[in-house]
Amino acid sequence: MSVLVKTDWNHEWELALGGPRQPDTPEFWNDKAVRCRRQGHTLLDGYDPYIADFIDYAALRPGESVLDIGCGPGLMSVLLAGRGHRVIALDFSHRMLAMLFKKAHQAGGLDVTPVLADWRDDWQVKGVEKVDVALASRSVAAVELESAIRKLNAWARRRVCISTAAGGSPVFDRVLAKELGRHICQHSNFAYCMNILFAMDVRPELRFIDSPKHESWPSRRHAEAAIRRSAGLLNNKEEARLQSYLRRHLVQLCDEQGRLVWQRDYTRVVEWAFIAWDKDS
Ligand SMILES: C[S@@+](CC[C@H](N)C(=O)[O-])C[C@H]1O[C@@H](n2cnc3c(N)ncnc32)[C@H](O)[C@@H]1O
Repeated sequence: MSVLVKTDWNHEWELALGGPRQPDTPEFWNDKAVRCRRQGHTLLDGYDPYIADFIDYAALRPGESVLDIGCGPGLMSVLLAGRGHRVIALDFSHRMLAMLFKKAHQAGGLDVTPVLADWRDDWQVKGVEKVDVALASRSVAAVELESAIRKLNAWARRRVCISTAAGGSPVFDRVLAKELGRHICQHSNFAYCMNILFAMDVRPELRFIDSPKHESWPSRRHAEAAIRRSAGLLNNKEEARLQSYLRRHLVQLCDEQGRLVWQRDYTRVVEWAFIAWDKDS
């Protein structure tokens, strides 16, 4: 039997992470929703190139019903409902669902059904309907990979589309990883998703969506602390390399509001892997 089929890729991913990932809590995401709203960026207004690419690659057919799992403030759900899709928007954060609901209401009573549920709940008991296309944008890594993939597959009649941070986490920085001398591949959780799918005998499509992230910090100390946190545990060699990286890549400049801030001397790119499969593939 091929190593692709007999390997437990979910377990291998947990080993790569250094142990099973602590699941997020609704409280964490409720707080995040409040912070987003306070900062005035509901993520719902304006054009978001990541969302545009995801919807483009999802290749929905007119009138298809959609289940959007881990829908957050409803970026995807509201856009799709606006295009005539019947959408079930599922999330375990009631504050995220409230943001979605408000936007759907403002847009004129779109056909979006919010469902307060956890990935790990029994969706049959929760009355979650099966749909033509199941989507999980930036939410699949929140839970155990293989069970999430199998659940999506069971809830979709025609197609499943997911996205996951290609670098294993949205804070991953390819430039930093290279300078620390780390093997980029060790962070590639999309590769574990692909292998889980191969072992399930499906034929997944893989594309990448690059999303530039403009980050700045009020002081050098804040910048160093944030970058250090994103790097995780460091051995002695990596510690020396991080020091050298910080010396070379942190710069102080004036932002658009005329404030002095610290930034990297390059734009970090969040690399998302978009994976989709048709049920009859
Ligand atoms: C990074 S946001 C993605 C939001 C949206 N899908 C997007 O791409 O813009 C992750 C979302 O997943 C939700 N989430 C995380 N863990 C979950 C779980 N176990 N069950 C249900 N939703 C969860 C969070 O509340 C949050 O809204």
